[in-house]
Amino acid sequence: MLKIEQAREAALAQAQAQVEEAKRRLAGELLILAHHYERDEIVAAADFRGDSLELSRRAAATEARYIVFCGVHFMAETAAILARPDQRVLIPRPDAGCFLADQAEPAALRAAWESLRKEIDVEQELLPVTYINSSAEVKAFVGLKGGAVCTSANAEKVLRWAFSRKPRVFFLPDQYLGRNVARRLGLPEEEIALWDPRFPGQDPASFRRARLILWRGACRTHARFLPEDVRRVREEHPGVKVIVHPECRPEVVELADEVGSTSFIIRKVGESPPGSIWAVGTEERLVARLAKENPDKVVFNLAEPPPFCPTMSLTQLEDLARVLTGLLNGEERGRIEVPEEVAAPARAAIQRMLEAS
Ligand code: 13P
Repeated sequence: MLKIEQAREAALAQAQAQVEEAKRRLAGELLILAHHYERDEIVAAADFRGDSLELSRRAAATEARYIVFCGVHFMAETAAILARPDQRVLIPRPDAGCFLADQAEPAALRAAWESLRKEIDVEQELLPVTYINSSAEVKAFVGLKGGAVCTSANAEKVLRWAFSRKPRVFFLPDQYLGRNVARRLGLPEEEIALWDPRFPGQDPASFRRARLILWRGACRTHARFLPEDVRRVREEHPGVKVIVHPECRPEVVELADEVGSTSFIIRKVGESPPGSIWAVGTEERLVARLAKENPDKVVFNLAEPPPFCPTMSLTQLEDLARVLTGLLNGEERGRIEVPEEVAAPARAAIQRMLEAS
């Protein structure tokens, strides 16, 4: 074995021992959450792994004093918004952001709302819905306007809820998720408009016509999947089933056999009969783990080369160990705090989601 690999293994073993020791000493006080896109060693160290909806439900329900969230920033922030004042939420890598969430800046959202006000009666007619992949401030804006948060697992339910309350919905920041759900709801194309924050208010007539206004944002990782990938795997692997995340482009979702959240994908592949062949359109760490966990099936990534989420990859076992040993020493490293004036309306938007789904 190369020296560099030996050094890496030794570092991992040391971090693992530190994590185990801290978990033992903090038993009953600690909950470690991990998203499915995290590294294998992080997922193995976690008490619970899940999709965004499951993770926020789990964070909201726990009695643990410390919630250590291995994921990206908006996920830990959501947990902090839901946490009781005596609970602490910590993230091992506070620099793990989300490219999609960053595409909706709160100031740009406020400006969009004011521009739309010139075309439609925003207070009476328009309800904002934000994907959970957004900042606390964006969630707070949505909460103040009576709107809700959604995740990939409940976007359809939340949008149905939104349309039962107001005739028009402003959905952000993922245009593809919004359009994919709109198609499932049977919304005609001419009733969907696109709000581009870089070139705002381009086509006023389209907003006056629209029942759904989509923010022009997308996940860089999921945007990598293309219709030609689906056509290629169908040619190369007769009998293949294509399963994709709803952050994929609508042209890809249209060609797929199944679409759903990360947990839906894991469940669907897991429940399929031995010998099934699956091309999976989501982040590669999840797909590689799924292949390992289903040795009786053929599981591979829909794209070649497969896309990784660069920020989900940031969290290393050493980062988790550092946060946990910090707790043993009375330090709260990587603590996420959201000021109550932002947290209160953001919490209202998250609670509406949890109640609607
Ligand atoms: P899920 O809620 O499906 O896990 O998705 C989270 C995410 O950020 C996908 O890119």
